[in-house]
Amino acid sequence: MVEVDEIMNFKIKFYTMLEILGILLLAGQFFCVVQGDVHFYDFVITEKNFTRLCMTKSMPVVNESFPGPVIRVHKGDTVFVNVYNEGDYGVTIHWHGVKQPRNPWSDGPEYITQCAIAPASNFSYEVIFSDEEGTLWWHAHSDWTRATVHGAIVVLPAIGSTYPFPEPDEEEIIVLAAWYIGDLKVLVDVALDTGGDLPHSEAYTINGETGDFSECSNGKTYRWMVDYGKKYLLRIVNAVMNAEMFFAVAGHNLTVVGMDGHYIKPIATDYIMISPGQTMDVLLTANQSLGQYYIAARQFSSENVAVTGFDHANVTAILEYRGNYSFPSPPSFPSTLPLYLDFSAAVNFTKHIRSLASQDYPVHVPLNISTRMFITVSMNSILCAGCSDGSDDGILSTSLNNISWFNPTTDVLFAYYRNISGVYTPDFPDFPPSFYNFTGDEFSENIILTVQATKVKILNYNETVEIVFQGTNVLEGSVNHPMHLHGHSFYVVGSGFGNFDNETDPQGFNLVDPPEVTTFGVPKKGWIAIRFVTKNPGVWFWHCHLDRHLSWGMNTVFIVKNGDTAETSIRPPPAYMPSCKVPLLKDWRQNDDGLDDIAI
Ligand code: C2O
Ligand code: CU
Repeated sequence: MVEVDEIMNFKIKFYTMLEILGILLLAGQFFCVVQGDVHFYDFVITEKNFTRLCMTKSMPVVNESFPGPVIRVHKGDTVFVNVYNEGDYGVTIHWHGVKQPRNPWSDGPEYITQCAIAPASNFSYEVIFSDEEGTLWWHAHSDWTRATVHGAIVVLPAIGSTYPFPEPDEEEIIVLAAWYIGDLKVLVDVALDTGGDLPHSEAYTINGETGDFSECSNGKTYRWMVDYGKKYLLRIVNAVMNAEMFFAVAGHNLTVVGMDGHYIKPIATDYIMISPGQTMDVLLTANQSLGQYYIAARQFSSENVAVTGFDHANVTAILEYRGNYSFPSPPSFPSTLPLYLDFSAAVNFTKHIRSLASQDYPVHVPLNISTRMFITVSMNSILCAGCSDGSDDGILSTSLNNISWFNPTTDVLFAYYRNISGVYTPDFPDFPPSFYNFTGDEFSENIILTVQATKVKILNYNETVEIVFQGTNVLEGSVNHPMHLHGHSFYVVGSGFGNFDNETDPQGFNLVDPPEVTTFGVPKKGWIAIRFVTKNPGVWFWHCHLDRHLSWGMNTVFIVKNGDTAETSIRPPPAYMPSCKVPLLKDWRQNDDGLDDIAI
């Protein structure tokens, strides 16, 4: 993996004078308020040929690598990433798990906070780190480009401080991803256009390689060399598009110490279950006999296999001890890696996740709630009047509170900041249209059918929010939904199976050491309750991190209004944002701030 971190390596030729001025102004502002270093990275997106499973395809990647470059910072730093799109399609990049205080402009989701960076153009993101520490990641947030456009972010403890566990000797980054045969952009566009099923992957990868159990992988399996006796920090990213993953290392125990950029109480285990979007920090001591050991992962499927098939590939890498010895081949396979459908193995791991909640790493769980929401998370059908294949039957859809998100053509942040009407409506409901037996087996037509709309929820600054996400079994489609919020972390104060009971279930809430995360699974035929404080003004995407569900509409947007002071308000926009397909020159001029001639 290539790492680029050269402060002087500014590609000035790509900047107009105004952009430079804008960045200097913002950087100047930043220096006054936060301490931390500033780093500069260049991300160049190109189409490049890769061969896996005996077939070669061209796919978009950053700096010619899959996975892409690692961003490495200390807690509280700021990174400017200049993205040059030299690929074939528009792209945006999201800094997953980075809260970006007051800075939704650089958050990245297409149609939510920006429009795509068009081919042959560039955009500079300002990624502002605050309280995150541990492993995070970045990924494209437009179409399904994130399948190949992603990489890890390492946030080291602030200079002068250290980990809440014995300092590891070395670290190793493990990025899990999905491999698709064929041009994913075309496959997804066709599926969405015709109402057909979205693609299923053909293999999984560890650091870009499919491993010994896949075809044509000879000699290419990813190899991690270790020294006997050393302690390692594994930084694991689940960049898979649509699958929760079991992961284990033969012969070696794992101790999970962090998740989503926050430390947790150590979990000693011999496997993990990691949802798409999640990141985990895991300690491993190289204390076994010298030899080779398989690192292996496979999908954990919670879906009804009669309803949805899945990719049964087993992906492997090899942990190999350095030294002069002969080892038996093949390497041993982790016997502790659970089987695909082992639901209780998944639950048994997840239920142990708890915040550190120590003096140095306190929790701040809100106790008095100002806004309560109850949101159903559901598979649905919509009537496909506009389907290009002429069918007007129901096609698959997904929803939150029976609203299936519909992307606007101008991004929500632009419309919100400029007071432009007609892009979204502020009426995302706090409750589903009706309360039914969500986890039952029979559903009436009006429950199965959903409607498409662009409805957002507007919240004041400093509200204390509690949301119960209730999974449904509509269309026999109950499955774990890893729900992800941008701009904030949240506490998972409760979870359970069946329908949430608002009298008895809150009595079991954990307000002492609940996990603080940015992505967490709503269990199959079950619910989670989360709490957070709206401390970050901006426009923030809320969505299922299974891209199948995201593409079908399992999303909404939370707008957090400005507080009373400049420090609690959205920062001014950068001098340049990529333009949307529908220019709104007139509306922009009505809100003239002197930037009109460069902003569109
Ligand atoms: Cu991993 Cu909306 O993001
Ligand atoms: Cu989902």
